[in-house]
Amino acid sequence: MTQETASLTETPMPGANTRKVFIKTYGCQMNVYDSGRMADALAVDGYAPTEVMEEADLVLLNTCHIREKAAEKVYSALGRLREHKKARAAEGKEFMIGVAGCVAQAEGEEISRREPAVDVVLGPQTYHRLPQALQKARAGERVVDTEYALEDKFEHLPDPTKVIGKPRSVTAFLTVQEGCDKFCTFCVVPYTRGSEVSRPLSQLLTEARRLVDSGVRELTLLGQNVNAWHGEDEQGMAIGLGDLLYKLAQIPGLARLRYTTSHPRDMDDRLIEAHRDLRMLMPYLHLPVQSGSDRILKAMNRRHKASEYVALIERIRSVRPDIALSGDFIVGFPGETDQDFEDTMNLVREVNYAQAYSFKYSTRPGTPGADLPDHVAEDVKTERLARLQALLLEQQQAFMQSMIGKTIDLLLEKPGRMPGQLIGRSPWLQSVNVDAKSSQIGDIIQVRITAAGPNSLFAEVAEG
Ligand code: SAH
Ligand code: SF4
Ligand code: F3S
Repeated sequence: MTQETASLTETPMPGANTRKVFIKTYGCQMNVYDSGRMADALAVDGYAPTEVMEEADLVLLNTCHIREKAAEKVYSALGRLREHKKARAAEGKEFMIGVAGCVAQAEGEEISRREPAVDVVLGPQTYHRLPQALQKARAGERVVDTEYALEDKFEHLPDPTKVIGKPRSVTAFLTVQEGCDKFCTFCVVPYTRGSEVSRPLSQLLTEARRLVDSGVRELTLLGQNVNAWHGEDEQGMAIGLGDLLYKLAQIPGLARLRYTTSHPRDMDDRLIEAHRDLRMLMPYLHLPVQSGSDRILKAMNRRHKASEYVALIERIRSVRPDIALSGDFIVGFPGETDQDFEDTMNLVREVNYAQAYSFKYSTRPGTPGADLPDHVAEDVKTERLARLQALLLEQQQAFMQSMIGKTIDLLLEKPGRMPGQLIGRSPWLQSVNVDAKSSQIGDIIQVRITAAGPNSLFAEVAEG
């Protein structure tokens, strides 16, 4: 047992839980997971979470560096926090500012130089050291810790079920893999999150069981490139994400599994079999393709052709016909011609997505894409994005409409706006409102979809 976990069993110090932390999370689900773990680490240090920035003694920005705008947002938020810190100092109150996540990793010292009000800067691999960093900062040191830690942070983070008193939500994220070795030429992730590292099977099974014991019914496995997860089973045999899913599926009490985000090149046979065999593996797959043009896919270093992606989807659909597809797209990658863009539109028509994210290419200094010739003009990117988004929206709406009249399983997640109303999640990741007075959060009930809004569905409890 590590020192950090050992200290959890000690009696809390007087005055514990008097300080409050406000954590603002930007970016992907991995950051959402990390923010939760940072809150756990801080709980040991006597910090309680708050949703209200004004009452916080510590504000942590867990940042994203994926597009230029994401990083800019952080600096403008820091400017506002500096003013707040001044006001608090005038009242003689402590107010600390921490920057974590991918901007912290990418910019390090530069953050404290640009914004001296920042007390601590911690990368995604060092946030388990947060309490120590705050202590140093209180002693007047400005802490920047973005080294890739030699120790495994997960071994040093406290067990959330021991430090967080209130019951967890019925759905949870579980990071199984971090970093990426794919080096797509537009992307900062291999630089901010480092190379691919998979968490060991036993650690994951332990964390998954703890989550289920605390009331979690649906687990979403996370990784920047989640289907690159690999490990060893109890006999020392090499296993991949498909096998991990089969193992997790055995945990009593766990009802649903999902995983995100996958790379088309790592969708192996075993993973496709898992979609065929495991009813609890939800029929929803986020499988980004980025572009439908082979020329652009090559320039992006995606290392597959558009036709291979379409063939892969056909294989997955042949074993799980009801699977809903989701994707990510980038328009206006350097060198993208009208024809390349039309290829993307055609691929979207061929695949038919239930949901998707699409972005204008954003130049990221230090990535190979930044140095490519023929950057696309902003107005061209804007026009292409609008056309692509209109098509994706049309497909999403059609998918929502196709649900009307169907009877489906619904995992009830939280109270709705009206008394007696609950909000649940469909197997296809849609939010569903239902009047279900005799059911409770965590139940999986059968409902009949009655109507579709732009982003959510409405349902009634199915008879019998
Ligand atoms: N690992 C995941 C995605 C990580 S980033 C994958 O391989 O799909 C999430 C999405 O942000 C990407 O899929 C991509 O569509 C988008 N993105 C990444 N870098 C970008 C950039 N420089 N400009 C615009 N969009 C970008
Ligand atoms: Fe970025 Fe590509 Fe890795 Fe996804 S697979 S994180 S887009 S480098
Ligand atoms: Fe952003 Fe880092 Fe996630 S750059 S998308 S927060 S991995």
